[in-house]
Amino acid sequence: MPPNPNSLIGDLKSLPQIIGGSGQSDRHIVLVRRNHPLTRERSDRKLIFYHKVSRCRLEVKQPRSQIIRGSTHIKVRTMLRHAIQVPKMTSILDEIRREFPYAERDASGRRRIFFENAAGSLVLRRSAEAESKARLECSANVGGPFWESKMNEEVILEGRKSVRDLLNASSEKCIVSGESATSLLFQLSYALSKEMTGIENIVLTEYEHFANISPWLELQRRGVIKEVRFVKFNPEDGLLDLAHLASLIDKKTRVVSVTGVANTLGSKTPLTEVFKLVKEAGAYGVLDAVHTIGHVPLDVEKIDCDFAVFSAYKLFSRRGSFMYGRQDLLDKLDPYKVEPAPKEPPEKWEMGTRDQALFASLSAVTDYLCWLGGKVESEVRDNITNYSGRQRLLKAAMFWIERYEQTLSRVMLNGTSKVQGMNSMKGLELYGMSDPSKTHMRVPTFTFNITDADARMVAEYLWEKHAIAVLAENNGGFYSRTLRTYGKTIAVRASPIHLNTVAEVEIFLAALHDSLKKFKQSA
Ligand SMILES: Cc1ncc(COP(=O)(O)O)c(C=O)c1O
Repeated sequence: MPPNPNSLIGDLKSLPQIIGGSGQSDRHIVLVRRNHPLTRERSDRKLIFYHKVSRCRLEVKQPRSQIIRGSTHIKVRTMLRHAIQVPKMTSILDEIRREFPYAERDASGRRRIFFENAAGSLVLRRSAEAESKARLECSANVGGPFWESKMNEEVILEGRKSVRDLLNASSEKCIVSGESATSLLFQLSYALSKEMTGIENIVLTEYEHFANISPWLELQRRGVIKEVRFVKFNPEDGLLDLAHLASLIDKKTRVVSVTGVANTLGSKTPLTEVFKLVKEAGAYGVLDAVHTIGHVPLDVEKIDCDFAVFSAYKLFSRRGSFMYGRQDLLDKLDPYKVEPAPKEPPEKWEMGTRDQALFASLSAVTDYLCWLGGKVESEVRDNITNYSGRQRLLKAAMFWIERYEQTLSRVMLNGTSKVQGMNSMKGLELYGMSDPSKTHMRVPTFTFNITDADARMVAEYLWEKHAIAVLAENNGGFYSRTLRTYGKTIAVRASPIHLNTVAEVEIFLAALHDSLKKFKQSA
C-alpha cells in the first residue's frame, strides 16, 4: 500500500535540519503538506514540495514513523527513486490558486503572502488573457460592417450578460460600464439631482467609502439637496445601527446609498432590511457593492435595490466598473450625455467609447466563477435552489466563497493550535466585529493598530521581515470616515480572499505576533 501523502507531514522542527544537512541535492524531497508554513519560509532552498510529490506514488523504504517524525537522517533520496506517476491529488484550493498566477510569488519572484486584496484583488490569469485578446483582436470600434467591429459588439454584449447573471439582474440592458465606481456614482448623483428641489435629504452610513460620500455631499454643497445624513454603526462590533437608519429616513429622503460591506471593517450591511425601509419611504436605494462583489453573493432583485455599482478590480479583474440600474429608472433619468450618443440605456449612461477589454475580462471572471461553482455546487445546494443555469453556478461559487471566507475570519480571530488569533494578542487594537461566532456578519477584511506603533512602520515591517503584503493608508483611512469613530486617522488593513489558505493566515498571525514584540520593544 503506498502511503497517503496527506498523512506524511514533515516535522516542523526537524525540517530546517533536514534541508540544512550536508550532501543535499536538488533531487531531495521533504514531505510537507502544501501550504505548510515551512514550505514558504524555505522556498529558497532546493526542495521539491509536497504538491509535486503528490503526483507520485512513493514506495517508502523507511518506517513511516521515521518520515513523520523527520529525523535529521531521513534518506529521502531513496524515495524519489521509487516514485512512479499516478493521477494528481489536489484540493479545491490548490486548483483555485493555480488560476491566479501570482498567488504564491510576486512578479519579482519573491514568495509572499498577498493580504491586500481590499484595494484591488489579485488577478485571474484567464481574465488578463481575455482582456489582452479583446484588446488585440477587437480593437475596432462598434458600428462597422467588418469582423473586428462585430466582434467588439459581441464581446461587449457578452460582458453585459455576464454581469447581468452575476447580479441576477432582469436584463443586460440594465448593465452600464464606467471608468470607476467613483465616476459612476458621480454620474448617478448628477442624474438623480435633477429630481431634487433643495429640500430633500440623502442618507448614507458612517462606514462608507468616499466614492459614496462626495457625490452626495456635492449636491448639498450646491444647494440641490438640504442635507446628507449619516447612519451610525456600533464601534464595538462594526455593525450598522438599523434603528438609527430608520430614524433618519423621513418623507424628504430621496436617496439611501449604502455599501454592502464596509471596506475598512469588513462588516456586512443587512441589505434586505435596509432596502425594505428605503422602499417604504419611497426613496431610491443605491448599493455600493465595490467591497461586496468578491465576497458575497449578490441578487439585486432579491434585495430590491434600484442601483448597484461595483469595480472589476475587486473581482479578480482589471480597472473599470459596472452599474446595475432598474430598467425603468435608466430609461427615465437623464444622465450627462453627449448629444449624438444613443438615447436608450445602457449606452445613454456611458460616457465616451466603451472598453471592450473590460467586458471581456469580466466575462472571463464569470467563467472562472462558473467553473468554481460547478466544483462546489453540492456543498451549497441549499443556498441555490432558486437559481438555474449560469446564475446557479455563479451563486454556488459566491456562496461557497462566502462560507470559506468565514473560516478565514474565524482563524484570524481565534487562531489555531499553532498560533494565537488576533483576539488574544495583547497590544493589538482590532476595529469592528471580533466575535468568532458572528463571522457570517463580516468578510475577512481586518483593520487594526498596534498600540503606540506607527501603522506604516508596522506594514513595512510585515513586508520586509515576513513578506506579507498589507496596507496602512491614511487618505482619511482607506478613503473612508470609519476610523474617525475610533479616534484614528490611520491603521493597517489585512484583507485575505478566497484564494488564501488557513496556513497563510497562520503565518500572518505569527508575523503579527512578532510585530507586537518588535514594536513593544522599540516603544
Ligand atoms: C466600498 C468602496 N466603494 C468605492 C470604492 C471606489 O472604487 P473605484 O476605485 O472603482 O472608484 C472603493 C475602493 O476601494 C471601495 O472600497
